[in-house]
Amino acid sequence: MTPATSLFSPVEADLHILADNLKKLVGNDHPILSLAAEHLFGAGGKRIRPAIVLLVSRATMLQDDITPRHRRLAEITEMIHTASLVHDDVVDESETRRGVDTVHSLFGNRVAVLAGDFLFAQASWYLANLDNLDVVKLLSQVIMDLATGEILQGVNRFEVDISMDTYLQKTYYKTATLFANSSKAAGVLSEVSEETAETLYEYGRNLGLAFQIVDDIFDFTSSADALGKPAGSDLKDGHLTAPVIYALEEKPELKKLIEQEFEESGDLEKALALIEDTKCFERSRDLAAYHAKLAVEHIVQLPSSPTRQTLIDMADYVLSRLN
Ligand code: FPP
Ligand code: MG
Ligand code: MG
Repeated sequence: MTPATSLFSPVEADLHILADNLKKLVGNDHPILSLAAEHLFGAGGKRIRPAIVLLVSRATMLQDDITPRHRRLAEITEMIHTASLVHDDVVDESETRRGVDTVHSLFGNRVAVLAGDFLFAQASWYLANLDNLDVVKLLSQVIMDLATGEILQGVNRFEVDISMDTYLQKTYYKTATLFANSSKAAGVLSEVSEETAETLYEYGRNLGLAFQIVDDIFDFTSSADALGKPAGSDLKDGHLTAPVIYALEEKPELKKLIEQEFEESGDLEKALALIEDTKCFERSRDLAAYHAKLAVEHIVQLPSSPTRQTLIDMADYVLSRLN
């Protein structure tokens, strides 16, 4: 059992129902979509996002059981995430994800783009069928934000003057928006007060930021085997994340290597060695820890319950991935 799955034990049964439902919901109409659904929703994903939706649902329903609409929201959240990954693998030309061939490498770009579109469209349809306009607004904002984040990331490639604020804004759009808005939407379905809904939003936003900052550290510090892609891929592609922004403060000579897009052989290796020789990973970890702590400060405002405790533990789990 991975730490994530044992951590999710209060919603483990819910996550099994979710996995079955996702395979049924997607791809009943066409063999390619059935294949893609089987492929996409099979084992491998951490299912962190739907787990949070289910935990928030339980932590805000307490005495009552969660409703089919809470479950559907968790499914929609995973569908949106999966759709964005299918498109992301096309944009990034990634051949494998979690050690498995990507949809575009199996079926080609045309099918992958359309399968991603189909998933987004289907998620929107199920969303509309929740018959809750506030929830529709929250999750359709996420779909807009994901595209905005991808564009922001694209225009900032190799941009050595990128500020930490711009990086965090991009990170919000790319990752934290889904954590934030789906947590809030789960609260809205439980009919929590507006104040509690905002608390849930802030919990998800900060947890999502911490999660992505940790991922961005991993891109440098994990092995190619663990990442399923070469270490330092973000830097090579010009995506300047928290570690690089900190490293640039200590090693101005990095600037030139990045600006010339590592055109000479050995440039990338030189840049990686310079980065290694800074405090950038400690500082990035501190930044992630700061957001994880803020997430906890928000979630402790919910009434005490075992599922609230798991939401608190999630913040530790996100950071513990670095140990
Ligand atoms: C993974 O990032 C990708 C995302 C978090 C979102 C990608 C979003 C899009 C491609 C836009 C979606 C399109 C529409 C129509 C809304 P990564 O590439 O940094 O990480 P990885 O290592 O998981 O690939
Ligand atoms: Mg990618
Ligand atoms: Mg990408």
